[in-house]
Amino acid sequence: MIFEIVVCAFIGIIAVLAILTLWRMKYSRFVSDNKHSVFQVLLDVMDSILFVTSGKKNALHLYIAKYFTEKSKKFKQYPLFTYWLCGLQVITIHKAEAVKEFLKEKKIIEKSDFYDFFTPYLGTGLLTCDSSQWKGRRKMLAAGFHNSMLKGYLTVMNEHAQKLVEFLHEETHKEFTCVERPLSLCSLDIAGESILGVKIGALQNEGEEYVHSLHKLLDVAMSRIWKFWQWPDFIFYCSNTYRQTLPHLGIAHGFSRSIIKERKLWYMNGKTGDDSRKPKCLLDVLLKLHIEDQVLDEEGVRQEVDTFISAGHETVAVAVKWALYLIGLYPEVQERIHQELDSVLGADSKGHLWVADLNELKYLDCVLKECYRLYPPGALFARKTSEEISICDYTIPKRATVVVSPFLVHRDEDIFPDPEKFDPDRFLPENIPHIPDCAYIPFAAGHTFAEMEVKVLVCHILRSFSLHSLDSRDKVLPIVKITLQSSQPVRIKFRRRQQ
Ligand code: HEM
Repeated sequence: MIFEIVVCAFIGIIAVLAILTLWRMKYSRFVSDNKHSVFQVLLDVMDSILFVTSGKKNALHLYIAKYFTEKSKKFKQYPLFTYWLCGLQVITIHKAEAVKEFLKEKKIIEKSDFYDFFTPYLGTGLLTCDSSQWKGRRKMLAAGFHNSMLKGYLTVMNEHAQKLVEFLHEETHKEFTCVERPLSLCSLDIAGESILGVKIGALQNEGEEYVHSLHKLLDVAMSRIWKFWQWPDFIFYCSNTYRQTLPHLGIAHGFSRSIIKERKLWYMNGKTGDDSRKPKCLLDVLLKLHIEDQVLDEEGVRQEVDTFISAGHETVAVAVKWALYLIGLYPEVQERIHQELDSVLGADSKGHLWVADLNELKYLDCVLKECYRLYPPGALFARKTSEEISICDYTIPKRATVVVSPFLVHRDEDIFPDPEKFDPDRFLPENIPHIPDCAYIPFAAGHTFAEMEVKVLVCHILRSFSLHSLDSRDKVLPIVKITLQSSQPVRIKFRRRQQ
């Protein structure tokens, strides 16, 4: 018996080594400078097992961040590097010149297969649809973020920012507040009202069932990336995990469908908000595409609604969280923001902020850009090549998974010297020309709505409070989940401002 086990183990090891060698040879052909020896791969596997089983909180996600960062440093003279993710070849782009060539490349607009993990919840909305539908959908949906609608969205953002400030006032007697939950609920309220046109009331503890299901569904989709045995759909759909998500799918889909039905009736009766026929929220634009233009069926409307709510709320919450954390760590930066807010907005600490006000807050702009640089909420995005392509003279094979990592691109020390240093002056107008195209890519494409929302929330909070972050940056480490989260809750002391 023991003899058989030893023989099997021996054959197993030989088989693994043979597969790794073949894989390495295949890979080296494409990205020839990034050679991986079989032993290096085995060492990486051992290292990951030791790290992940160390019992540390978030060990897997910390390991992934460490692995990426180390590889990026090791291959810093190359525009891209390759590695192995549970048997899948992945090429990561971490230099601006390669990002530029890659994003220009017309042949690759396929999302990577990982995006399919979101289809049970999101169906084939803009984030998950295939390349044949993507361009058309993107063009259609742009109407939902037209300038004419931004003023209405800004009102919604201001109202919810004020509610968040009221909530935080209640926290000022506490030693600290963990900001994740209130920010996530507030941004969900904003998404609910600007996308669906409904008040969810998440910050006031309403709609808890929906909020819980939404977060659960996104967690399950994301965790499938690391659970490689759940990659094939037929295994996932037979798994317990999937069965456990079914009630959540029912709740989340049921919520969007009921709002869509209600608003559709309203729309058909000729009342798109306040008796005028002007669209007030993204859903109105989608209903026009559904009812009048007949280019989207009702399920398509539901898929886009769910896509925008999911893509739009946690990203903003994370962006605001990192911004408050960094501002709370650097008192001299906070002081300059307070001075700017006082001089631009005057003594009024409550009123709404409009586009003209936001445009005046130039130093705050630099601070937020530096926050996005250090902690981009979307730390990476992935594509699948539909044909063999060449990026910076490296041949990328057909069907390769290519990851673009804003987190790593933003840490290129040739462009951002001393990259870990928090230095908003990097984005002063005189320094911007030194930042090459695609070296700063937190949004991948224009996201005016998102930038506006983050700025409004940060302004309202900073107008009312002084912040002090309790934990240093070597304790609060970035980890990649769907968005760039922190290894531990961010603890901030909120105190009313003495103006
Ligand atoms: C600070 C906040 C935000 C950041 C940093 C951010 C960043 C990004 C990035 C990097 C992508 C590209 C992902 C990919 O291609 O795989 C993306 C896509 C997307 N984002 Fe955002 N986002 C933010 C807020 C929002 C908001 C508020 C909304 C909705 C109102 C939104 C809706 C979307 C959608 C629908 C996509 C898919 C677009 C497509 O595939 O064409 N995002 N976002």
